[in-house]
Amino acid sequence: MSGLDGRTFISQRSRSVDASGIRKVFDLAARLSDPINLSIGQPDYPVPESVKRAAAEAIAADRNGYTVTQGIEPLRERLAADIRAECGHALPVLVTSGVSGGILLALMALLDPGDEVLLGDPYFVIYKHAVRLVGGRPVLVDTYPTFGFDAARYEAAVTPRTKLLVLATPSNPTGVVLDDRALQAAAELAERHNLILLVDEIYNRLVYDAPCPAALRHAPHRTLLLRGFGKSYGMTGWRLGYAAGPAFLIEEMTKLQQYTFVCAPSMAQYAGLAALDADISGHVEDYRRKRDLVYELLSDDFEMVRPGGGFYFFPKVPDRFSSATAFVEQAIARSVLVIPGSVFSERDTHFRISYAAPDDRLRRGCAILCDLARGV
Ligand SMILES: Cc1ncc(COP(=O)(O)O)c(C=O)c1O
Repeated sequence: MSGLDGRTFISQRSRSVDASGIRKVFDLAARLSDPINLSIGQPDYPVPESVKRAAAEAIAADRNGYTVTQGIEPLRERLAADIRAECGHALPVLVTSGVSGGILLALMALLDPGDEVLLGDPYFVIYKHAVRLVGGRPVLVDTYPTFGFDAARYEAAVTPRTKLLVLATPSNPTGVVLDDRALQAAAELAERHNLILLVDEIYNRLVYDAPCPAALRHAPHRTLLLRGFGKSYGMTGWRLGYAAGPAFLIEEMTKLQQYTFVCAPSMAQYAGLAALDADISGHVEDYRRKRDLVYELLSDDFEMVRPGGGFYFFPKVPDRFSSATAFVEQAIARSVLVIPGSVFSERDTHFRISYAAPDDRLRRGCAILCDLARGV
């Protein structure tokens, strides 16, 4: 029996995005028996016991049905109160299925076909593809080599079709945290050109030099804040995040959630309430130390920014390599998994290394990367 020809059925929309970027790395890696995996995008510590318990208790107490679309009231109230205390604004909150869920709902609510979205390059991969999936046009703004916010570069990319400016702080893949001045400049740019500012702060608890400045302080009437639980509490698989911002947008996203995700996973919402009281300061301290360790191990051999948050570095590959992909292929041949910058960027000059890994693996992996850089 002959199979169906998928091309007849698969939509233009789906075909407008490709899955190739990271697959090659994982195909190469699949042949290794015990790789030093420094490509992971999630913490290597477990979910706090109190959070596991809260999820288990919710399941045991038969709180397993749909919740209200916008999320259980005690969680929403707590999040709104925390945001009010932090940013000084009372804003409605929608509990989402991970931050990815919030991104998709926001883009669906805001973009008409052809609307443009400014994305700093390098970018978190979902943004570019999700914008395309809803018919929008990602417009990439180069942020090399500092990965900070340079308002002039963004301003030069604004057109009459620009509707949205997306920032991630701390960033994936660079770990760079935007300071208050940068956020103020972004808010002013959004104000000048009547844009919505979408700020993804999923790594906001994983910061090592100072608290993560909250973008919502500056232009709350046109800023959508997205935050999550996955990275801070090691619960990426539980799919929990939230959105806070102008009522018109939260209402629209809630309407769309009704017809898509329906609600965030119920037990994760109860666990999320417990997570807000969990102490992760020991993990933050540990990652600060790992950040400093990796910087010390790599910075003599690689040009790199020392970032303030997340758990990534985005070093530049030495010029003698034809591309970051060529460098990464050689690293993988020596059993070290890192990700070529081309997965997150129009450039193929840098690579992402995650330090969410045990110290001995970080030391061994960094030694191999330095050998490769030196041609040893
Ligand atoms: C910047 C950024 N935003 C959003 C996400 C997705 O978060 P979630 O797992 O909550 O959907 C990630 C995950 O890697 C991320 O790095």
